[in-house]
Parts: sequence; structure tokens; C-alpha cells
Amino acid sequence: MPNKLSSKLIIALDFPNKKQAIQFIKPLSPENCKLKVGFELFVAAGPDFVKHLVDKGFDVFLDLKFHDIPNTVASACRSAADLGVWMMNVHASGGQKMMLAAKQALEETDSNAKLIAVTVLTSMDKEQLASTNITLSPEEQVKHLARLTKASTLDGIVCSAREAKMLRETLGPDFLLVTPGIRPTGSDQGDQHRVMTPADANADGVSYIVVGRPITQSDNPLAVIDQINLDMQ
Ligand code: C5P
Repeated sequence: MPNKLSSKLIIALDFPNKKQAIQFIKPLSPENCKLKVGFELFVAAGPDFVKHLVDKGFDVFLDLKFHDIPNTVASACRSAADLGVWMMNVHASGGQKMMLAAKQALEETDSNAKLIAVTVLTSMDKEQLASTNITLSPEEQVKHLARLTKASTLDGIVCSAREAKMLRETLGPDFLLVTPGIRPTGSDQGDQHRVMTPADANADGVSYIVVGRPITQSDNPLAVIDQINLDMQ
């Protein structure tokens, strides 16, 4: 049985309201998983619910992808740290000044919260990037923003599991790679196009995997969680 520090599984709590999220987490234990709260649940349930999860002992990844002027992002990170979250994120495309301000704000708190960055949204293909005047390929832009994130002293990035091997080689052993788009063997892909199994992602050097629907929509979430934890050992 993994302990809280060792579970590499982050469950995406993508529920439309607090009631459904509370019902889902009832049988879960902080030893077996961490929890991710994104826009949908945060807007519906608010910071008090995040605090509730933290008070229950869960490591919470607050996935709000902050992107604003440095002062505003730094303040948002400080507020997130006050909630006691374990990890939070910003957009690397907000620039180095923004990332450095966010990191410094966190260092001035008592929190040990990890700060990671989103590089290029996986919904952005070459054409979409070009329409924003970025002529690099998505892969080149991911690598560029990942290096900028590391140079800005952040702890890691959110990336596709398919990019993890290359990024692990580029960024070294200690940089956090947090990857969605994970599907246990035999589970429905849903709208994720390029998926990877937990075991393959682990072998490619990811630090944490984010898994939503294969667990939240399962008839037996605990069995799926146990299997993923075993696959990731
Ligand atoms: O249900 P599923 O396992 O696809 O959920 C994946 C989670 O990771 C969702 O919360 C989704 O918003 C998030 N995510 C993603 N792809 C990205 C970034 C975040 O699927 N590129």
C-alpha cells in the first residue's frame, strides 16, 4: 500500500458540484491518491471546498492555470498557498517575470506548495499556434517553454505523456512532469486522442499522472486506483 508521499496518482475531480464530489471522495484515502480541483469544481464549490479536501488530509493540486500580470499572479499563488494546497499552476506563456514573481510569492509564505507551468495546451495544433503568430511546431514550443519554466526556478510542467521521455532527457531527473491523457489498459479513451497507460508513462519518467473519468466514472473506483498504484510502482 503506497503512503501519501509516494502515490503518483492525481485524480481529476471533474464534477459539476460539491455534492457529487463529496460523494465520490467518501471512500478515498489520502494514502492512495492526490486530488485535482480544476475550473469546473472550483467555480461551483469555491475555495472552502478546496480547504475541506486539504483538512481531510489530501494533497490537492489546484489546477487554475493562472495567466495575468506578474503582481496579480503572485497574489493568486499566495492565496492558493493560504488554502494549504500541495501544488498549483500558471501558464508559462505569461513569461519569465510572471513565473519568477509567482515563485517568489510562494517562497515568502510558510507553504511548501509546488509550482508548475502549463506549456502549450494540447488542444493547440500547429495551425492554431500559427494563428497566434507562433511559427514553431507545438513540440518545439513545448520544449522552449519548458526550458523557460526551469530557468524561472519553477518545480515542473504539465505535459503530454507522449512528450515525457524527451522532456525528462532535456530537463533532468528532478524536474516534475505531470501528465494527463492517461488510460489504464482496456478503459475508454473518451475525448483523449493520444493516450498512454500508467505503466508506460511511469517507464518514460513522469512524476505524477492525472486520471479523471477512468476512475470517476468507474463502478469500482477503488479497484482502479489500486491497480494504477500497482502499475506505477
Ligand atoms: O477524464 P480525463 O482522465 O481525461 O481527465 C484528464 C484531466 O486532465 C482533466 O481534468 C483535463 O482537464 C486535464 N487536462 C488534460 N489535458 C491537458 C491538460 C489538462 O486532459 N492537456
